[in-house]
Amino acid sequence: MPALNQKIAHFYDRSSTIWEETWGEHMHHGYYGADGTVAKDHYQAQIDLIEELLAFGNVGTPKRIVDLGCGIGGSALYLAEKYNAEVVGLTLSPFQARRATERAVAAGLSDRVRFEVADAQNPPLERGAYDLIWSMESGEHMSDKKKFLQVSADLLKPGGVFLMATWCHRPTPPALSRRDHKLLRNLYRDYHLPYIISLPDYAKIAEKVGLGAVESADWSQAVSPFWMAVVRSALSWQSVKGLLDAGLPTIIGAWAMNWMIRGYRRGLIRFGVLRGVKK
Ligand SMILES: C[S@@+](CC[C@H](N)C(=O)[O-])C[C@H]1O[C@@H](n2cnc3c(N)ncnc32)[C@H](O)[C@@H]1O
Repeated sequence: MPALNQKIAHFYDRSSTIWEETWGEHMHHGYYGADGTVAKDHYQAQIDLIEELLAFGNVGTPKRIVDLGCGIGGSALYLAEKYNAEVVGLTLSPFQARRATERAVAAGLSDRVRFEVADAQNPPLERGAYDLIWSMESGEHMSDKKKFLQVSADLLKPGGVFLMATWCHRPTPPALSRRDHKLLRNLYRDYHLPYIISLPDYAKIAEKVGLGAVESADWSQAVSPFWMAVVRSALSWQSVKGLLDAGLPTIIGAWAMNWMIRGYRRGLIRFGVLRGVKK
């Protein structure tokens, strides 16, 4: 396994329990209304993000779904129930795959939802067989963004939908400054990201890999209350204890919230969503 993927696996092996205990099964931003001003329960905001993304993707009623970068199965189980669908989730973290499998059993869904440890850039899955490829905040970890979108397109049946939410940097030009690059390097180091790209660059790649009806949108405003809420929850005694138990990479990951908050404030980091349809 490449060194970066080992680091990602280790990071999620160690940090998933504290995240689940503090936030629940969804390891992603929440949606607080289009302008980010709707006060709501944070768990509900995460469900709302899933629902908003599905509406944006115009996914129909998918029956076979792949969740690339599935965490502990938050989205996969939600989608399986919502669409009465068969879902396979891939993660680099053996801990997450085990925990997701336990959760599928507990939900009575293990006959049609399964989880595997595998690289989403080289998925051990049948090509041309799926109605929906779902990627919720995993694209930022992928070292080859083009390959990631290419295999996603290859997995889809004609007419199937690729739907992704991911961390981006702002569109260029103007070029990123030295200060921007410095903040991004800190973020990459602490969250084990190879690099991130802009949303227009993702849209160009999507078109090159054979996706049509490509649409993208910047939802940075809608998710903007999320990181301050994470900071507040991380300061509770239970979380501080959990962080110490989870070890150094998780503590560094928690500290890296700082880069996200600063990056959003500066307009450097963006929350991008993209959909495309297999031609
Ligand atoms: C921030 S978590 C999001 C988890 C899940 N999508 C959710 O929203 O709850 C990022 C996930 O991406 C997975 N991931 C990162 N790089 C990956 C890769 N190359 N192949 C498969 N999974 C990957 C991690 O293992 C982790 O499960």
